[in-house]
Amino acid sequence: MLVEIIKQQHLELRELFMRHQEMLLQMQFEDAKIWLEHFYVCQKAHMKIEESYLFPEFAKIERTSKWDVSLYEKEHDKINQLYENIVNDLNWLSEQKLDQSQKRRNIIALLDKEKTLKGLNEHHEEREEEAMLKELDDAYMDVGGTTPGKEEVMLRREQQPRAESGTEAERAKKYKQLQLDIKLTWAEVIASVRETSI
Ligand SMILES: [Fe+2]
Ligand SMILES: [Fe+2]
Repeated sequence: MLVEIIKQQHLELRELFMRHQEMLLQMQFEDAKIWLEHFYVCQKAHMKIEESYLFPEFAKIERTSKWDVSLYEKEHDKINQLYENIVNDLNWLSEQKLDQSQKRRNIIALLDKEKTLKGLNEHHEEREEEAMLKELDDAYMDVGGTTPGKEEVMLRREQQPRAESGTEAERAKKYKQLQLDIKLTWAEVIASVRETSI
């Protein structure tokens, strides 16, 4: 299911950000920069996956939640802006000649900013998982994904909007292909980060 695939990516992104924060706490600014960069490479790829594979599909179905594609896009922009702010602050911090106390105080200030980014990200991811992805899976469910019982399928067919026109076989194929494309794209990105972080 799409929600499981994307949820896994969200968890892996969180882990990369935690590595960055661990380095930051230890005042290892160069390593903190490297992990922040790894996080962002993956975050950017993750957003691209959503924007090119999922948002267009989501725009086609009849939504049951109040949030449309434009909201998710705006949140991506906001996350990118906050990220850039954090990079600038970390670069500045790593270039200063500061005593230990000053360093600690600047780290606290940076962690506060990062808390805002994390909060926004978590909120955004939760919305994707609870609304967009769930709705996409539901719209495709009767033709792909898991294997619901016959009665459940009949009920969904009556209640859920179709993901798109076309035969069931075509839609099932498309759903599977979509999941495969997303998994392969992500696997490449995460492998490139793992290679460079060893
Ligand atoms: Fe997103
Ligand atoms: Fe996401």
